[in-house]
Amino acid sequence: MNPTTEKKVFMETFGCQSNVLESDHVSSLLVKDHFSFTNEINDADVILFNTCSIRAHAEDKVFSRLGQLGEWKKQKEGRVVGVMGCMATSYKDQLLERAPHLDMVVGPDQYLKVPQVIREASQTGKSQVLADFDPIYFPENDVNRLSQPHKAFIEIMKGCDKFCTFCVVPFTRGREISRPSEDIVFETQKLAQAGVKEVMLLGQNVNSYGLGLKSRGKTITFSELLREVARVKGIERVRFMTSHPLDLPDDLVEVMASESSVCESIHLPVQCGSDRILKRMSRKYTVEHYLERVQKLRSSIKDLFMTTDLIVGFPGETDEDFQGTMDLLEQIRYDAVYSFKYSPRIGTVAARMLDQVPEEVKDERLARLNELAWKHAAQACETRLGKVEEVLVDGPADKTPGGFYGKSRQNRTVVFLGDGYRTGDMVKVKIDRHKVANLYGTVQS
Ligand code: SAH
Ligand code: SF4
Ligand code: F3S
Repeated sequence: MNPTTEKKVFMETFGCQSNVLESDHVSSLLVKDHFSFTNEINDADVILFNTCSIRAHAEDKVFSRLGQLGEWKKQKEGRVVGVMGCMATSYKDQLLERAPHLDMVVGPDQYLKVPQVIREASQTGKSQVLADFDPIYFPENDVNRLSQPHKAFIEIMKGCDKFCTFCVVPFTRGREISRPSEDIVFETQKLAQAGVKEVMLLGQNVNSYGLGLKSRGKTITFSELLREVARVKGIERVRFMTSHPLDLPDDLVEVMASESSVCESIHLPVQCGSDRILKRMSRKYTVEHYLERVQKLRSSIKDLFMTTDLIVGFPGETDEDFQGTMDLLEQIRYDAVYSFKYSPRIGTVAARMLDQVPEEVKDERLARLNELAWKHAAQACETRLGKVEEVLVDGPADKTPGGFYGKSRQNRTVVFLGDGYRTGDMVKVKIDRHKVANLYGTVQS
């Protein structure tokens, strides 16, 4: 019998879509290596946390989980605890000091080794740390084991060279590297043949895709890649994230406007509405530049769904700077806002700035910002009332008996009543009401 036949893995994923994609990738490697999965910690032989370092809160959750595992490990011989993801590359072997029950620390470019490292840890009891970057390695979907039959993430680039002063990603994910476009298009074709209808192209900064890359002897831009992916037979929807506002060229807007499978949706993180703070963040654009790009997008793409990320309480942020952010929100009126309190990250420039903002000021600003953002989100939902949305069905709706839910092209959640729908169906739904950010409607025959 294979020694891993009996090993059951419990895996928990934190952080961004890259981690979600990579957890699926590792799961499929483990299944191929005869591991199985369980949702019960007490039933498991292996616990893997795929972690995120973006804010202190994300790391604290993992440290507290790790702290609780001493007893669990003692209960059965050969049990293994592992940390993957960005905490692996930010802490490396220091993690072993902070979490003595830890057997393995494996960074994002070393995932092919996860099955082997688990086996070795279980047999020898020795801890291993593998956190080096590998420029060639990219995780891929296993078309025989998709976590969703109709939608998939595709990693098109990794790392980041922007070095925004608040951000840990350039350290946890390394230098920015684009994946060859042939590989991306080939993966998209394989996914389409397996029945996938929607792909989301992932990168920290997709607009700079192609820098330093030659494909078929030529350079390639993100706009060109997006057009190629959009034309893959069987792919009905393409999304992408994240776009940096600095390099959002007109030709990308044109591809979004002209390729019918590219959805009317963009995540365009602004971070704040004060030029002084944007400069200290090293975002390299001004509020005026950002507004001009938004204007270009909105005038070219009808019904564009626009979301953003905002940080409150960046070092040195005054009431006036914060008012700039509130004014920007009022001007743009986003469909959804992801807002965060600034969290100092070790090794970043902003963490060393002397004028850190007190926690209670951050709390108060975040509450005001969220209140305004929610008001806009609700008003934006109202503009959908009476409209017919094309919904890609995700499955039965938990809280609506007899109901199904899915996403509109804009990426809004739509709930409707019906019979016999399957995940992956495209359904036309007329919207009659909304509750918070969810739309509810009736199927159009
Ligand atoms: N590459 C993307 C964002 C990646 S991180 C971009 O450039 O926009 C996702 C979001 O987390 C960021 O947009 C930012 O709003 C937030 N974030 C990153 N570092 C943070 C920190 N130190 N404190 C609070 N929020 C942070
Ligand atoms: Fe972080 Fe800035 Fe890179 Fe985004 S662009 S990942 S915020 S350094
Ligand atoms: Fe977090 Fe790493 Fe993603 S820090 S946001 S898991 S790239």
